[in-house]
Amino acid sequence: MRQLFVIGIGTGDPDHLTLQGMKALARAQVVFLLDKGADKAELVDLRRTLCERHLPSGSYRFVQLEDSARDASHASYTTAVEQWHERRLLAYEQAFERELGEGDTGAILVWGDPSLYDSTLRILNGLQARAKVAFEYEVVPGISSPQVLAARHKLPLNAIGGAVHVTTGRRLARGWPDGVDDVVVMLDGECAFLQLDEPGLEIFWGAYLGSEHELLRSGLLAEVKDEIARVRAAARSEHGWIMDTYLLRRRGGR
Ligand SMILES: C[S@@+](CC[C@H](N)C(=O)[O-])C[C@H]1O[C@@H](n2cnc3c(N)ncnc32)[C@H](O)[C@@H]1O
Repeated sequence: MRQLFVIGIGTGDPDHLTLQGMKALARAQVVFLLDKGADKAELVDLRRTLCERHLPSGSYRFVQLEDSARDASHASYTTAVEQWHERRLLAYEQAFERELGEGDTGAILVWGDPSLYDSTLRILNGLQARAKVAFEYEVVPGISSPQVLAARHKLPLNAIGGAVHVTTGRRLARGWPDGVDDVVVMLDGECAFLQLDEPGLEIFWGAYLGSEHELLRSGLLAEVKDEIARVRAAARSEHGWIMDTYLLRRRGGR
């Protein structure tokens, strides 16, 4: 039976890879990489660096898959994402069939942790349900961006006994979630925080967390939001891509 490891690799620091991740990686003969285009070449490079650092050369090979982008013009965001994931599913299916022999072990290196805003586990479950290629897989957890954000700002994400809400910029733009004072926001390409004007809100922001380009800002949202938007735009144009995450906190709760 083909065996796969889905390994969370952390968010940009090669030292984020856990010992468990290293052991799983060392068992792989094939490492699958999703090519997300020239803009995001750095993200693929980090995966290559991890393998070069932790695996004896000649013990594995890379198989690169083209990742076509989501159709941003589609009226329904959910449908566009589903169609994009369907294309990824087919790419993985063909690659497993072609590149992994019976009894071989492969690895998929997932940014951060595979449980958080990542399609890999959904795709592998879908592939097993289709049953065209037989394989088993294990998941190795990784360090996720909210964890690195909390570590950099030296903060617990929750108030004592409180809840933490993890959401996307797209959802935050529709309004503050009910019943929570602490909100972690990911996947926010549009700076949804700029629309919030509730007094007393604090923001703890981080971009390129764990990497050499890391940026951090924090303070009262009203005082720092314009600066964050400015720094974000400049960094994005310098590097060609950006990933940022932030915690919004109601000071002292409601
Ligand atoms: C597709 S999701 C992947 C999340 C990932 N699985 C995790 O555990 O962090 C991408 C989003 O994660 C966040 N992210 C990932 N890496 C980051 C980093 N190095 N610094 C800041 N945010 C990051 C950003 O919000 C980005 O838009």
